[in-house]
Amino acid sequence: MTDVRHTVSVDGPTVRASDPLSVLFQSEQGGHEQVVLCQDRESGLKAVIAIHSTALGPALGGTRFHAYASDEEAVLDALNLARGMSYKNALAGLDHGGGKAVIIGDPASVEQGGVKSEELLLAYGRFVASLGGRYVTDMDVVARENRWTTGRSPENGGAGDSSVLTSFGVFQGMRASAQHLWGEPTLRGRRVGVAGVGKVGHHLVAHLIEDGADVVVTDVLDASIDRVRERFPQVTVADSTSDMITGPLDVYAPCALGGALDDVSVPALTAKVVCGAANNQLAHPRIEKDLADRGILYAPDYVVNAGGVIQVANELHGFDFDRAKAKATKIYDTTLAIFERASSEGIPPAEGADRIAEQRMAEARRG
Ligand SMILES: NC(=O)c1ccc[n+]([C@@H]2O[C@H](COP(=O)([O-])OP(=O)(O)OC[C@H]3O[C@@H](n4cnc5c(N)ncnc54)[C@H](O)[C@@H]3O)[C@@H](O)[C@H]2O)c1
Repeated sequence: MTDVRHTVSVDGPTVRASDPLSVLFQSEQGGHEQVVLCQDRESGLKAVIAIHSTALGPALGGTRFHAYASDEEAVLDALNLARGMSYKNALAGLDHGGGKAVIIGDPASVEQGGVKSEELLLAYGRFVASLGGRYVTDMDVVARENRWTTGRSPENGGAGDSSVLTSFGVFQGMRASAQHLWGEPTLRGRRVGVAGVGKVGHHLVAHLIEDGADVVVTDVLDASIDRVRERFPQVTVADSTSDMITGPLDVYAPCALGGALDDVSVPALTAKVVCGAANNQLAHPRIEKDLADRGILYAPDYVVNAGGVIQVANELHGFDFDRAKAKATKIYDTTLAIFERASSEGIPPAEGADRIAEQRMAEARRG
């Protein structure tokens, strides 16, 4: 029996199993539609393109460049991430299925920009093009070889930095959490701790201040803290994230690295809500139950941080900020619906989210 368990990965819920073929053909957890193994001897490209589902439309998902320990690990990663994207895109209300590609290799060698690197990316672009639009991805270099790319820089006709909509979406998820827990869709008068005030965290602080929240922040970079304090002198700075989360807090917003919710932080949390932008917040799958046992409401990261993918999808149809923002506003309704479903069925929010996503995909397949 394969070890299949539900957990959360970079972009959404995933299945982990010990061998790639069992994940690929594993029907109970959804299975995958197609996996393409790509090799270009000239440039040295080795890549895996995994399409989990096209039930809602062309599979959309980024391309990860990573030096994997083994080829098998690369295939598993692509499969897991592709499945996560199906759920993320379905919950974001996008007419896109889920897919993900991984290029096996050291990204630093490509960033150095050698001719070989460009050849490698162009070869990858040709493989994406060979799928005829069943898989849509990002990257400017790839875009030169095919038209099924998005998430491009403004110089190349794209919408650029997605942190504006990501932070807006996280704020909508937080408003929904406040509505579910306290009966009002506002953070006014609540103490909100933002860990990591980089691109997303900074914009999130702006939304929170405008809403009347009492904001405390942490960051390991003085420059990030200084930027926030210059714009919002009323923001408090905690000495460390651990000080911040053990001090009085209503809402904790992890906006830096993954794994923020672990066996040390969860028992120590004073906040009643966790809602932030960071991918992969749950250090392991049981953490969600630990949060629920402590009465802490967890807004699934891949639901509330979908503003970025909403922007990327929007770009495919000619970027229109207002249209993308209107879609990101719906993260409020989706998050609320997830909490309601989770409460009524006695399940954790991420499971409620999965069920809503699966329902949408099943209806699309039937219809
Ligand atoms: N940018 C997007 O559109 C987007 C979309 C979805 C998810 N996310 C996720 O949201 C998170 C933040 O993204 P970003 O674009 O703002 O990144 P960023 O690099 O601009 O900001 C991250 C900030 O966190 C700080 N940081 C790093 N380690 C820390 C620690 N241990 N404690 C406190 N602060 C720490 C960094 O100094 C930096 O200021 C990431 O996990 C990212 O994957 C971002």
